[in-house]
Amino acid sequence: MNKPFSQACENNRAPIGDILVRLLSNRESVLELGSGTGQHAVWFARQLPHLYWQTSDRIENHSGINQWLDESGLDNIGVPIALNVSRDVWPKKKFEAAFSSNTAHIMAWPEVEIMFREVASSLVAGGLFCLYGPMQYSGVIAAESNRAFNYRLKESNPNQGIREFNDLDQLALSAGMSLLEDNAMPANNRLLVWQKT
Ligand SMILES: C[S@@+](CC[C@H](N)C(=O)[O-])C[C@H]1O[C@@H](n2cnc3c(N)ncnc32)[C@H](O)[C@@H]1O
Repeated sequence: MNKPFSQACENNRAPIGDILVRLLSNRESVLELGSGTGQHAVWFARQLPHLYWQTSDRIENHSGINQWLDESGLDNIGVPIALNVSRDVWPKKKFEAAFSSNTAHIMAWPEVEIMFREVASSLVAGGLFCLYGPMQYSGVIAAESNRAFNYRLKESNPNQGIREFNDLDQLALSAGMSLLEDNAMPANNRLLVWQKT
């Protein structure tokens, strides 16, 4: 299998990385949900050499992630855990942060609910959950490009779609996490950060 490649990851890794470096300078471990190609993990683990970046995803993505990890030569990345958020057993270990990029609009809503609940259980007190992607605010998807993207998503799978910020924030609150930051990002994306209280 050829090494997978995501142009979106190449485009967004630097702006996301700037925020993660600021937020995670004194954190030691991160659990990534839906690592995808593994590109993000390699980039962020290289920028944050003091911490351990644990990848995870559905099993079908593991061979691609492992190719990126093997090539990186980094020793602060964990090989992917098989973690379909709604089907697999979550790690027992507690993490100081969790990160997920472009997953909430791909997962069905019940899976998003489980992700928030389980992330909160996997974090230490004070731990951070950083969620990147396009968002809807008070029923409005502001950017035309995101409205078109949302339409395509729902057309191909009615369970997918850009999520409402208020709904995500409610899930976070119910799981014991409060909003710390809502960062505007390039290409009409957001990086939301909640903290476990
Ligand atoms: C659009 S890709 C994003 C990948 C990567 N995070 C990125 O930003 O390029 C969506 C990812 O969500 C993962 N995913 C979808 N449903 C999932 C689930 N139920 N549990 C865990 N991961 C899931 C997919 O396997 C895929 O890696």
